[in-house]
Amino acid sequence: MAEEKGHERKQSLQAPTDTTRVEAPVTVKAYLMCAFAAFGGIFFGFDSGYINGVMAMPYFIQEFEHLDPDTTPKDKFVFASWKKSLVTSILSAGTFFGSLIAGDLADYFGRRTTIVAGCVVFIGGVVLQTASTEVGMLVAGRLIAGFGVGFVSAIIILYMSEIAPRKVRGAIVSGYQFCITIGLMLASCVDYATQDRDDSGSYRIPIALQMLWALILGGGLLLLPESPRYFVKKGELDKAAHVLSRVRGQPKDSELIQQELAEIVANHEYEMQVIPQGGYFDSWLNCFRGSLFKANSNVRRVILGTSLQMMQQWTGVNFVFYFGTTFFQQLGTIDDPFLISMITTIVNVLSTPFSFYAMEKIGRRPLLIWGALGMVICQFIVAIVGVTDGQDKKAVSAMISFICIYIFFFATTWGPGAWVVVGEIYPLPIRARGVALSTASNWLWNCVIAIITPYMVDGDKGNLGARVFFIWGSLCALCFFYAYFLVFETKGLTLEQVDKMMEESTPAKSSKWKPSTTFAAQMGLADAKESAEEVEHVA
Ligand code: BGC
Repeated sequence: MAEEKGHERKQSLQAPTDTTRVEAPVTVKAYLMCAFAAFGGIFFGFDSGYINGVMAMPYFIQEFEHLDPDTTPKDKFVFASWKKSLVTSILSAGTFFGSLIAGDLADYFGRRTTIVAGCVVFIGGVVLQTASTEVGMLVAGRLIAGFGVGFVSAIIILYMSEIAPRKVRGAIVSGYQFCITIGLMLASCVDYATQDRDDSGSYRIPIALQMLWALILGGGLLLLPESPRYFVKKGELDKAAHVLSRVRGQPKDSELIQQELAEIVANHEYEMQVIPQGGYFDSWLNCFRGSLFKANSNVRRVILGTSLQMMQQWTGVNFVFYFGTTFFQQLGTIDDPFLISMITTIVNVLSTPFSFYAMEKIGRRPLLIWGALGMVICQFIVAIVGVTDGQDKKAVSAMISFICIYIFFFATTWGPGAWVVVGEIYPLPIRARGVALSTASNWLWNCVIAIITPYMVDGDKGNLGARVFFIWGSLCALCFFYAYFLVFETKGLTLEQVDKMMEESTPAKSSKWKPSTTFAAQMGLADAKESAEEVEHVA
């Protein structure tokens, strides 16, 4: 029935032949909606950031290690390493699996519903964590909350990329990154404020506060529309037209809405022809089909998305955010390492808005290429100063300054860039799963790095100290070549045009690519390729 209706509507769609008119004009409402959805980043940031400080809080250690503060010697008053590692990494394990499942849920129940479900699951996990006085319950709570964060972090990117107008899509997804940075900063501020309390409020306040973010996001999203591309995927074109008209602020039957819808439908039909859909496992297998030697095949896109997120983690940014405090402590000459750590989170927040502008004006590709180079230079300077003059006060100040400049480069390029590109490179039939797989890769590498870096850096283990920046610097050099050889320029194109561009162009030439026809024309929703070329010609 739905399909029949969809078919009728498809007949009446007005196919766009003009490649510049495949999307209705941008409205303030669209901006506000995306800005709100970006709020999900606060979860991501706060949740990964708060645990660091909490595990160093005296009351928390006393409670979870069952210690008597009056009789326990100072050097025994610590949270055991294996518990630290378990409590920190279990969240990423939850998010890894959560984001994988989320792709399926988003295709089945909808993008918006999946995010709201993520908020509910997350609140359940946070309640357990807040109530906990034992490691077992804390770990269970973090695992469950991790599932929720996985849902939210994977699907927000998908949802935003699908409803954002193409001209500001990069800026809007960067807004999500901005919220991640705010979350990280808020977490370190809240930890800073409650760390010395002599009651369970010290750790319960930062933990419980997270419920607020979930309530705001989940509650607010209930008022926002579902993604029109989800309805197209389901064959419910009437609903797709309805939400598109809400997002674009144009009447449902207006030419602009009809043309945008026709293009989304035609692209989906084209993709479905290229990738026939089978059962559940078959549709998962679709993500890995195609030639390894063709940059636009599904398998290559999945490799691009997952490796881009891996490279983002390899920049070493979370070394600064997860272990910055202890690293600065080891340098010895710093009075308040906690404060320095907080400053790095503030630099992160203040730098990110530059990317709102740069993503659209300069483009994704140059930002990723030059950002990697900037990070390489800063990290090698930190490493060289560290090994030559590590204990000198001036040298340490120089190291801290270059770490801050490094954070500036990350926050304006790879931080937002990886998320922006991941939201854009997949065709609709595998988009939800592709974004989910890429997000899962981010969490997987996040987790691996969180587990191995203390072993590389700590004095009683690998004892790399500042030399670890040689490793991050070399990995950033890899990021430079990676971006140069593999990343396409996607700015200013609709998601459907990105799909075409990846078919017709190469990374190095992608910024020059211009659409010459629309999917609607190509699919015969109108036999209009000729007139499209005419329009191009005249233009
Ligand atoms: C990364 C996180 C990181 C954050 C820092 C995000 O894009 O995925 O792992 O902690 O940026 O701002």
